[in-house]
Amino acid sequence: HTLAKRVRAVVGGRLDVLVANAGIAKAASIEDTTVDDFDDLFAVNVRAPFFLVQQLLPMLCKGSSVVLLSSLAARAAVGELAAYAATKGAVDTLVRHFASALGERSVRVNAVAPGVVATDMSSFATTDEGRDYTLSLQALKRVAQPDDIAGAVTFLASDNAGWITGDTLLVDGGSKL
Ligand SMILES: NC(=O)c1ccc[n+]([C@@H]2O[C@H](COP(=O)([O-])OP(=O)(O)OC[C@H]3O[C@@H](n4cnc5c(N)ncnc54)[C@H](OP(=O)(O)O)[C@@H]3O)[C@@H](O)[C@H]2O)c1
Repeated sequence: HTLAKRVRAVVGGRLDVLVANAGIAKAASIEDTTVDDFDDLFAVNVRAPFFLVQQLLPMLCKGSSVVLLSSLAARAAVGELAAYAATKGAVDTLVRHFASALGERSVRVNAVAPGVVATDMSSFATTDEGRDYTLSLQALKRVAQPDDIAGAVTFLASDNAGWITGDTLLVDGGSKL
């Protein structure tokens, strides 16, 4: 709510693009996942984008585009990520419901689902072992960089994707085909 209030103050009446990119991940077995970790994951990855969209709704107008961040983990069992993966499954579900609800206003809502990307979140991909594991998942044999994802987000935000809504675009180098 605080962030939305600040955005309203800066942007004014109209918001063309909202990308809800912030997220957290925590790898843990089912046994080792704590209630606090579970709640934190859902607070940042699901609750925050839900209420950001809610609070910014008055500024989303004809042609506005919302892009949320999903993950390969939502559709494939990779690593020990059950709780994190469930948050991204929730994001995919939100995308369909938001897109359906906001279509009348000509607001599009989509998600991008990256595979492993070389960021702080997936720092394991910088080790030899992590790199080998990552490449074993993918059809394309290199580790993705943030720009590989940014291009897809920019596309969904643009008018070139004007007839795409309610979809999750896999941007994962052909992971787990
Ligand atoms: N990297 C991957 O392999 C991968 C794969 C699939 C999906 N994704 C998704 O892609 C998105 C971006 O991830 P990333 O790889 O860039 O992760 P990252 O390197 O860990 O960066 C996460 C970003 O989220 C912000 N953030 C985290 N908690 C926040 C909070 N409570 N309030 C505000 N900002 C917060 C962080 O801000 P601070 O730096 O200020 O903490 C940081 O800018 C996430 O939604 C993630 O789930 C990533």
